[in-house]
Parts: sequence; structure tokens; C-alpha cells
Amino acid sequence: MRIVLLGAPGAGKGTHCKRIADRYGVLHLSSGDILRRERAAGTELGRKAQGYMDAGALVPDELVVEMMSRAMKDASAGVVLDGFPRTVNQAEVLDKALAAKGGGIDVVMNLVVDDGVVVARITGRRSCPKCGAVYHVKNMPPKVAGVCDKDGAALVQRPDDTEEVVRNRLETYYRQTEPVVDYYKSKRTVDDIDASGDADVVAKVIFEKLDRLAGKKK
Ligand code: AP5
Repeated sequence: MRIVLLGAPGAGKGTHCKRIADRYGVLHLSSGDILRRERAAGTELGRKAQGYMDAGALVPDELVVEMMSRAMKDASAGVVLDGFPRTVNQAEVLDKALAAKGGGIDVVMNLVVDDGVVVARITGRRSCPKCGAVYHVKNMPPKVAGVCDKDGAALVQRPDDTEEVVRNRLETYYRQTEPVVDYYKSKRTVDDIDASGDADVVAKVIFEKLDRLAGKKK
């Protein structure tokens, strides 16, 4: 099963992609997580991406497309894409690459939330630098404040999670990524999911749709 999860920054893509990967045994590929790993490892790609990410702008397509093509080679059991594609050009390149192998995307879901919700979620997000688990200081707090439930590591705040950068990320989203939703809608069904409610409620809606599909396709 190949799934694309679209949505603004903070819509809950990472939160729900992790749950989807656990439930359906597909690979979770987050372009943002891969870029952050490249940065942490000090690679050339990471150095090139850094300035764009910290400013809330998109990393150039050619860098991201090559990186994601490499990552998708490990996705034979299925994949859920988080943060990619993020421009119409990326979506077209992905469609062509999959069509060349006789495949395509099975499901496109679009998580819909208001900008006010986005800012509150992102400025309160904390993540584990060791295992990647994501928390929220109010909505999904860890058992002990500032400490990962899974491995005890000290939680960190992403450098692009300040209110100022979030506003830039939202502006970038509306200008460059929202057209990807229209691109898919012009070609296929896209499931718009109200992602403003509790995460368990949102997950239930997502799972109901994917369970039906998973019955047909693994
Ligand atoms: P990326 O890491 O993809 O960031 P993003 O799209 O801005 O998305 P986020 O990770 O901020 O949010 P999310 O939707 O995953 O929300 P989450 O589940 O964490 O990209 C970062 C940067 O990398 C980009 O700005 C760009 O520079 C670059 N980049 C990445 N991909 C690229 C590409 N394809 N092309 C070019 N450049 C690229 O949830 C957020 C918070 O809310 C968490 O604290 C969570 O606990 C909480 N939460 C989630 N759901 C709920 C809920 N239902 N109720 C209450 N709280 C909730």
C-alpha cells in the first residue's frame, strides 16, 4: 500500500504516519526527518538544506527528489509518505517514477486544520532526539516533563518551531504545497480529514478508510 499524507505544518502528519506504519507494516518516510538526520550527520545535503529549513522555506526540489528516490528503494512492503511531495513538481516526478515501475499511489489523505491550531501545536511540540517520538507539552505530554517515555532521553524543541518561523512555514505551505492537494484532486480521490480533534479520534477516521483498502491490498 502506498499512502501520501498531506497537510499543513503541525496538522499531525508525523503523529499519524507513525501510527499508520505500526498498524499496516509500511515504511514511514518523512522527508523532514531524513533532512534533520542529514543535518545532524553534517552531510553535504544537510549543510545545503539547513538555511532553508531554519527560515521555513522549502529545500530545492532537485535535492529532495534525489534523497526521496533513494529512500523509497527500501519501500517494497509499502510506504506512507510524510512531507513529500510538497510541490507540484515533486508530485509529478513521483507519479512518473512510480508509473515507470507499473505502480502508483493508492491513497491520498489531506489533514485539514486551522492556522491557529497549527501555531499552538507546533510551538508546544517536543521530540526525542534519540527515537524520534513526538510529544506536545499540553496535548500529548510525556509521563515526566521533558523526558521521553520510551528511552529516557531529554526532549528537544526543533529550531524551526518558533512562532515566527511557523508563520513562514504556513506561508510557504499555502504558496507551494496547497497546490499539491489540487494537483491530486484533479487526478483522483483525495480524502479530506478533519485533523483538529483529539489525535485518537483523527486516527480512528484514518484507520477506517485504510482498513477498507488494506483488506484489498497489502
Ligand atoms: P517537516 O518536518 O516535514 O515539517 P512540517 O511539514 O512543517 O510538518 P511538521 O513536522 O511540523 O508537522 P506534522 O504535520 O508532522 O505534525 P506533528 O505530527 O509533529 O519539514 C521541515 C522542513 O524540512 C520544511 O520546512 C522544509 O524546509 C524541509 N522539507 C521537508 N520536506 C520537504 C520537501 N518535500 N521539499 C522541500 N523541503 C522539505 O504534530 C505537531 C504537534 O501537534 C506535536 O506536538 C503533536 O504531538 C501535536 N498533535 C498532532 N496531532 C494532534 C491532535 N490531533 N491533537 C492534539 N495535538 C496534536
